[in-house]
Amino acid sequence: MITGKSILLIISGGIAAYKSLDLIRRLKERGASVRCVLTDGGAQFVTPLSVAALSEDAVYQDLFSLKDESEMGHIRLSREADLLVVAPASADLMAKMANGHANDLASTILLATDKPVLIAPAMNTRMWDHPATRRNFQTLLQDGLHAIGPGAGDLACGEVGSGRMSEPLEIVAAIEGILSDTDAPLKGRRAIVTSGPTYEAIDPVRYLANRSSGKQGHAIAAALADLGAEVVLVAGPNSLVDPAGVTVRDIESADQMLAACESALPADIAVCAAAVADWRVAGEAEQKMKKDGSGQPPALNLVENPDILATLSQLNGGRPGLVVGFAAETETVVAHARKKRARKGCDWIVANDVGAGTGVMGGDQNTVHLITAQGEENWPTMAKDAVAIALARRIAQFFDAGFDADFDANSDAE
Ligand code: CTP
Repeated sequence: MITGKSILLIISGGIAAYKSLDLIRRLKERGASVRCVLTDGGAQFVTPLSVAALSEDAVYQDLFSLKDESEMGHIRLSREADLLVVAPASADLMAKMANGHANDLASTILLATDKPVLIAPAMNTRMWDHPATRRNFQTLLQDGLHAIGPGAGDLACGEVGSGRMSEPLEIVAAIEGILSDTDAPLKGRRAIVTSGPTYEAIDPVRYLANRSSGKQGHAIAAALADLGAEVVLVAGPNSLVDPAGVTVRDIESADQMLAACESALPADIAVCAAAVADWRVAGEAEQKMKKDGSGQPPALNLVENPDILATLSQLNGGRPGLVVGFAAETETVVAHARKKRARKGCDWIVANDVGAGTGVMGGDQNTVHLITAQGEENWPTMAKDAVAIALARRIAQFFDAGFDADFDANSDAE
């Protein structure tokens, strides 16, 4: 899929730069040409010689080098590629990009380009969590940049947390997703995606909710839109940036989520990734409930919420051609998910283990099993946006058997 495509890889300063050497190999073995720019920081971690040898091309480092400029000016570098990839994207380079700086070759190219840009952030977990970095990252997403990762885990600096650069094969899948935009295998298809938690009101100030962040559902909406689908994202309360190119309907309760989904029909695809509250409080109090001095807590009467996935799966007329649900399980994950698929009547179930200690709820990584009528696939642990891209590509393949999903589900992520 990326054969013949040309990629400009910008390697900025971070220990994860060693993975970029492997990324070059993975891209080259898929037939892409890779030209590299190394920042001063990047050159502290990998040598120009290794990068040049693997990319089989010159390495560009200096904005004011007469030699580099005479051979290939920064404007040409920024325009000749099909895609610019920044991996690793350091906190410093992201800050420059978000603020429009152009004081070295990499930042100048990134400001001058008219091509899509994918960033793979990598940094210490506190740097990633710092409000300045989060602000810069949000700005870059709002500017229309694509991002993959970072994932969570052991960091090279010895700490544990978010900030780990996505694996080379995950980055390759993201690149394929972006470059296949032009092929847009889902062009003309309509998709509904549910995401996030629901809030079920108890009284005007209190509600029942759960720990869902919406990251997985939002990433799926973005990945389907990247493949050309017209996407309506029905989102429970969340603190995420609305994905570019997606129509977002913000809701609070399960009842509102169902109504928003029904009004988004007809659709070819429905992906229910929301963690819908199973119950709501019967008879929401109109005024704030007060303690009555008896020491007795009030009894909350719960009634079951509508099941959105089951409703969409069992529509008599106008059922989406492919309905995908999620199964959040804490034990015997696959067996429970199989039963859930049969009970709800959906076509596929993406089962994930959300038990305490997995860090899935609210986290960045996910380990999933795809359950279909044909059986089950065990996918390697991936960042949630990599899971989203793989799922979107599988969906594209469902509608177009000739489309190469290019994802070896049962292999290790390496
Ligand atoms: N779901 C839904 N509407 C509900 C409950 C769940 O659309 N009222 C969807 C979720 O979006 C997910 C799937 O159903 O795609 C399974 O959700 P999950 O919470 O795993 O299962 P439940 O139906 O809640 O079943 P249980 O609590 O028994 O595990």
